[in-house]
Amino acid sequence: MEQKVVIVSGGAGGLGSEICRRFSTRGVAVAVADLNSEAASQVARSIESDGGRTIAVHVEATDEDSVANAVRTVVSRLGRVDYLVHCAGTNIKAPVLDMSLDQWKFSLDAHLTGAFLFCREAGRQMVEQGDGGSVVLMSSVAAAAPVPERGAYGPAKAALVNFAGQLGLEWAQYGINVNAVCPGVAITPMTEMVYKREPELREQRLKRFPIKREVLPEEVAELVLYLCSDEARYINGVGIPIDGGFLNSGFYQAPES
Ligand SMILES: NC(=O)c1ccc[n+]([C@@H]2O[C@H](COP(=O)([O-])OP(=O)(O)OC[C@H]3O[C@@H](n4cnc5c(N)ncnc54)[C@H](O)[C@@H]3O)[C@@H](O)[C@H]2O)c1
Repeated sequence: MEQKVVIVSGGAGGLGSEICRRFSTRGVAVAVADLNSEAASQVARSIESDGGRTIAVHVEATDEDSVANAVRTVVSRLGRVDYLVHCAGTNIKAPVLDMSLDQWKFSLDAHLTGAFLFCREAGRQMVEQGDGGSVVLMSSVAAAAPVPERGAYGPAKAALVNFAGQLGLEWAQYGINVNAVCPGVAITPMTEMVYKREPELREQRLKRFPIKREVLPEEVAELVLYLCSDEARYINGVGIPIDGGFLNSGFYQAPES
């Protein structure tokens, strides 16, 4: 992976920042792209202080011009794009009966429209370079197990898996593999915000996890890196759960302790 360049949208977040750091340890130059410029700069500074090559890029993933500018900036400052990880996302509480059209659009835009815009811009660059690449879209177990009271989150995450399949078909000819990863719950600023509002929710959920803990950001990051490695070229167009068995837990009962 040395001499390669990755763009991580949502790179300042809990999962995104870990993904940025892991890529950097493999010698990949990292563009930390996020709406939160201050947090993105902090991630970039910490990578730099560990000897990595990195830039922070401000981006609004839902805005066509902003994404195009961000990708242009990465190419002009880091020279190329080899990998894209679309990790920008939000998780708003809104059951469908109470959801406004703006809330619906807000949720779909960050996850799905953002994926489309980033993939198109970064994909064009990769195709022009002519030596392949990898894309990973951050989906969720919610793609298959909708989350109560978060009526747009699951639909957006399910669409990302389908979109990975779509691009996997369209871009195989260019040597670009495209996959989605579907993590179970990880403790990040996004989930910390939810658990702060609903502290009992974490205990309820943990009872349903066959492995009695959340997935670690490092574990998600390692899967993302693997999907971008040469060894994973033949994995293409699929959504891969990393959930400790959660999606199989319909009949699951925790052993008495
Ligand atoms: N934490 C979990 O349990 C979990 C599980 C499965 C999937 N995911 C997904 O992983 C991704 C990252 O989640 P996280 O837990 O690290 O959350 P997070 O809130 O820590 O990070 C999300 C990042 O995305 C950025 N962002 C949000 N909207 C943006 C936009 N429009 N343009 C640019 N940047 C934007 C935020 O500024 C933030 O830095 C999300 O897509 C989330 O849905 C999270």
